[in-house]
Amino acid sequence: MARKPIIVGNWKMNKTIAETTAFVNAVDGKVSDKADWGIATPFTDLQAAKAAKNLIVAAEDMHWADHGAFTGNVSAAMLKELGVEWTIIGHSERRQMFGETDETVNAKIKQAIKNDIRVIVCVGESEAQYDAGETKDVVKNQTVAAFKDVEAADAAEIVIAYEPIWAIGTGKTATNEIAEDVCGYIRSVVKDLYGEDTAEKVRIQYGGSVKPEGLKALLEQPDIDGALVGGASLKEESYLAMVAAL
Ligand code: G3P
Repeated sequence: MARKPIIVGNWKMNKTIAETTAFVNAVDGKVSDKADWGIATPFTDLQAAKAAKNLIVAAEDMHWADHGAFTGNVSAAMLKELGVEWTIIGHSERRQMFGETDETVNAKIKQAIKNDIRVIVCVGESEAQYDAGETKDVVKNQTVAAFKDVEAADAAEIVIAYEPIWAIGTGKTATNEIAEDVCGYIRSVVKDLYGEDTAEKVRIQYGGSVKPEGLKALLEQPDIDGALVGGASLKEESYLAMVAAL
């Protein structure tokens, strides 16, 4: 089945409101309908980003609770009020530096679904796990845990981003063969959980040092339906080079 590619820039802790506005003004009118295009921005930039008509606007995280004593966090209701309809959950930087666990990833996914917020959930192995040949075990465990108690209809709407940690911000991108092998494996895990129909609907992105020049060949891989892009999504020209590459 044809799955529409989804390409989202993950800005991480970069860009101010003014920079976000400049980016939206330069890019929003120029994306194509060959893919769903988006940006995930710091919370402070979301309102400015929502000025975009053609870009998906995602938060980079959200909390699993409705509200409460969670200093520094942002709830689904707060995102909804801004008109934000997507969030990344479980990025490896959150898992490594901010105590995100498989359990909190699952709780956040269920909270997002409850609030009609679409999810990009990240999975991926460390360099040590890659070297030890544990990649598939790691992504399977993360995927199964992320989807625990999620209904098939909701699961089909979730985007999974496979981001090998050793390829993030390192310039060391996984070969298309490695990325396809793991993304195909993740699809088989979804199939084991939910069956063929859901597995065929789920979109799976690759992330890790994606550059405009490599994007087309990456998306030609049968199980890769998009990209989650850090560094190369920050500059307007580079983002537009990705648009032009398809
Ligand atoms: O979420 C995207 C990211 O982790 C990849 O970053 O800079 O390697 O494209 P980068």
